[in-house]
Amino acid sequence: MSKVLLEIQGLRKQYGIVEVLKGVDCTMQEGEVISIIGSSGSGKTTMLRCINMLEEFQGGHIRLEGEEIGYEHSGSSRRRKSEKDIARQRALTGMAFQQFNLFPHMTAAQNVMLGLVKVKKMARDAARTVAEKWLDRVGLASRADHYPGQLSGGQQQRVAIARAIAMSPRLMLFDEVTSALDPELVGEVLQVIKGLAADGMSMLLVTHEMRFAYEVSSRVIFMNQGVICEEGDPKEMFVAPKTERLAEFLKTSSFN
Ligand SMILES: Nc1ncnc2c1ncn2[C@@H]1O[C@H](COP(=O)(O)OP(=O)(O)O)[C@@H](O)[C@H]1O
Ligand SMILES: [Mg+2]
Repeated sequence: MSKVLLEIQGLRKQYGIVEVLKGVDCTMQEGEVISIIGSSGSGKTTMLRCINMLEEFQGGHIRLEGEEIGYEHSGSSRRRKSEKDIARQRALTGMAFQQFNLFPHMTAAQNVMLGLVKVKKMARDAARTVAEKWLDRVGLASRADHYPGQLSGGQQQRVAIARAIAMSPRLMLFDEVTSALDPELVGEVLQVIKGLAADGMSMLLVTHEMRFAYEVSSRVIFMNQGVICEEGDPKEMFVAPKTERLAEFLKTSSFN
């Protein structure tokens, strides 16, 4: 039986006086793979960053496995949770970005081990074993002792994904992880994400790769100007968009 993993209700986010999320509602079941599409500036990154508490937000609720993320509510008032609680909650999600942000002076294995040792307080030997397992899983077993500078962009991004997954997040957030890559390196990263999807990992992924979104997602969310404009089964949405805005967006996107 499926179980609700993530529940977003009325999410509102402002930067100064500019409202960039204007009431986002979304419910995600465990094991779902949801792609978020939409033009630049529609609020996709901001939504992921709110879920991961990298951004504060001004209204609404985010619940992960039933637990309220970021804020305590009492009546109509609310206050931010303690940094300790937020750090614990942040560890429930893993995030991979367009920029890989690996530490250049650390090997692939050391990059993956860092959070395990520092945050999870794992012994180095055990952390090394976990790092090797995940590097193997992303096809980089033979690159464990290479430095980022010795790896291609696609390989570095796979290390970054291994680093996030090694922390055993309940939900993985991917933000345009192939956008900074040379075209010939995109496939190997998408292949890794497909493998994780097949393993049942719950994932929210912002992507410009429409063909990939079509193939891998259980559901697609189309964001426009800070709200979810349309959502549904990719097989239906890409073929027969219900809104004019999605139809327009698909015309200018890479799906064909
Ligand atoms: N740190 C910030 N300060 C001010 N405005 C921001 C900031 N980050 C994003 N924005 C604005 O918020 C809107 C949504 O941005 P973003 O979530 O990055 O969109 P997307 O990921 O869909 O391209 C944009 O108009 C952007 O200019
Ligand atoms: Mg973005």
